[in-house]
Amino acid sequence: MARVFVTRQVPGRAIERLQEAGHEPDIWPGELPPGSALSDGLAGAAAALTMVVDRIAPDLLAANPGLRIVANMAVGYDNIDPAAAADLGVWVTNTPGVLAETTADHAFALLMAAARHIALSDRDTRAGGWRTWSPTAFLGNDIHGATLGIVGLGEIGAAMARRATGFGMRLLHTSRTPKPDLERDLGIERVPLDDLLARADFVSLHTPLTPETRGLIGAPELARMKPTAILVNTARGLVVDQDALIAALREGRIGGAALDVTDPEPLPLDNPLYSFPNVVITPHIASASHATRARMAEMAAENIIAVLAGREPLNPVNRPAAPRA
Ligand code: NAP
Ligand code: GLV
Repeated sequence: MARVFVTRQVPGRAIERLQEAGHEPDIWPGELPPGSALSDGLAGAAAALTMVVDRIAPDLLAANPGLRIVANMAVGYDNIDPAAAADLGVWVTNTPGVLAETTADHAFALLMAAARHIALSDRDTRAGGWRTWSPTAFLGNDIHGATLGIVGLGEIGAAMARRATGFGMRLLHTSRTPKPDLERDLGIERVPLDDLLARADFVSLHTPLTPETRGLIGAPELARMKPTAILVNTARGLVVDQDALIAALREGRIGGAALDVTDPEPLPLDNPLYSFPNVVITPHIASASHATRARMAEMAAENIIAVLAGREPLNPVNRPAAPRA
């Protein structure tokens, strides 16, 4: 019976699946991340089912020679160094293919919330601000007919584009590689980032966090955006230079921002981002639907079951030359 450290309570049948496969899930009971308890939890574990906020440094893997797989319950895996893990013989897996639609739903909801002041007007209404019908209250930006710039036309970026076509939006994207079939099917034009920033009414970020994308949207990029444009970030907080974003918002150089990801997370309550009425913030919940989170957890469990049975995982993001046995 192999011990599997699960760093949070997870929905769906993931725990049952691990038990059915003869393993012993050891579930961290708290809501808050295990933090320093991570090393205690990993001690003696053959596998770990981890979250995006669990930082799995190489020394943690080196200190736990029995650990054979880290199965991240996320599509992003910037909390782990897959190459270092491979060198140590540890598989790293993620959960692609199951969360793009749900994440794009949320990204589009954020876009709409920021464009039409949904969160702001809700707060105002609850506080008694609805005294009469006003021809000038909460004027926002039209979504239909506007131009959406997608940075990173991968699974989620493409799902975002499909939603935008229903709103009659014009579509631009910036990605590393051209995607002629997708571009034709979606009617989306591939342009350099500078052009996208200058032309888009909404800029939505969908890249992974990598050394290349860290700080991709900084002061020069924000300066290229239209003064009315809204930045939507469901990628990772560090893809944006947050200080530059705060400066741009303070000086009214962009129209607003809608953020599901920040740096750090959780965002401390004294962060200036909370002070802007034209900023919407959600707590990294873009994939948080009942069905999708259950599928993510189950997928992570299946990756663990495969590796502990001596098979290759279904969704590897690295390939150890000599996997630990
Ligand atoms: P994906 O299918 O791998 O797509 C990523 C896209 O980013 C690809 O099109 C890639 O371009 C592009 N890209 C990479 N580096 C780039 C660069 N330097 N400049 C421009 N484009 C670049 O990934 P996905 O499933 O859509 O997920 C994207 C990210 O969203 C994840 O890595 C994660 O960080 C984040 N995410 C967040 C949440 C949330 O809860 N907020 C949920 C899910 C995912 P090429 O196609 O040319 O390689
Ligand atoms: C969530 O942030 C993910 O990468 O799946």
